[in-house]
Amino acid sequence: MPEQAVLDDDNTSAAIEHAIWSGGPLRRDELRPLPTLPHPYPEGWTSHIELVLLYNLARVTRGPILEIGPWLGRSTSAICAGIRDQEASTRPAFDTVDFGITSAEEWKTLLGIDFGPQLSHRVVVDAIYHPGGSMAVLIANLRRNNLLEFTTTITRGNILDMPFSRNYRMIFCDTTHDEREVRLYLPRIAQLARPGAHLVFDDVVTEDFADLICSYLPVAARRILHDEEQYSKQLLVKLC
Ligand SMILES: C[S@@+](CC[C@H](N)C(=O)[O-])C[C@H]1O[C@@H](n2cnc3c(N)ncnc32)[C@H](O)[C@@H]1O
Repeated sequence: MPEQAVLDDDNTSAAIEHAIWSGGPLRRDELRPLPTLPHPYPEGWTSHIELVLLYNLARVTRGPILEIGPWLGRSTSAICAGIRDQEASTRPAFDTVDFGITSAEEWKTLLGIDFGPQLSHRVVVDAIYHPGGSMAVLIANLRRNNLLEFTTTITRGNILDMPFSRNYRMIFCDTTHDEREVRLYLPRIAQLARPGAHLVFDDVVTEDFADLICSYLPVAARRILHDEEQYSKQLLVKLC
């Protein structure tokens, strides 16, 4: 890498580390803004500030990244953009895995929740009944924004059944919405994370729930953002 690029990269890493982990409120002004894409970020369940954090963390992660639960690629697009905006020589592998639901029946069986009126939103129905199901929509959404090339593997299946061949420096997990899911998935996530990794969990708004997740992990630092960022439900964890 040219010397100036190394310097710029180091400065970006230091700024992002400082913005998140130096204590006190999140220093939004020290984070890199979320880039616009040729087509809008796909619809989904990740807020703007959450996308900003995923983009920034992916941008400075030097080592493999794992996402559990991309759905149609909203969060995935932010992670891919962060990888894209790294120097080419440091771009990490990026694996993403989802059930890839293809019917209302699968939704109920795999997620254990009824496909009720609240979920039968047009985007959801169109995605699961699309030929190839939600995974096909995920790939199309990444491709039209020139982001598909920044993924390494896109796997349809249960995270618990994946034969992983690497450990990760960053994991974004969008499948720990309640205590049952935490107890099911955290042992596997703990195995997959490298020392010093950044982990991001969605749907964590209380310190008690953060305690439960962190009880499976060697935690160096952690923060939940909900109290200061109304639209964030993320728990950020830095491992020892
Ligand atoms: C809330 S959605 C993800 C939303 C997405 N990250 C976004 O930005 O809009 C959760 C996703 O996790 C997937 N999922 C849940 N449990 C899973 C598991 N055990 N293995 C793989 N995927 C899982 C579901 O199929 C669903 O697509």
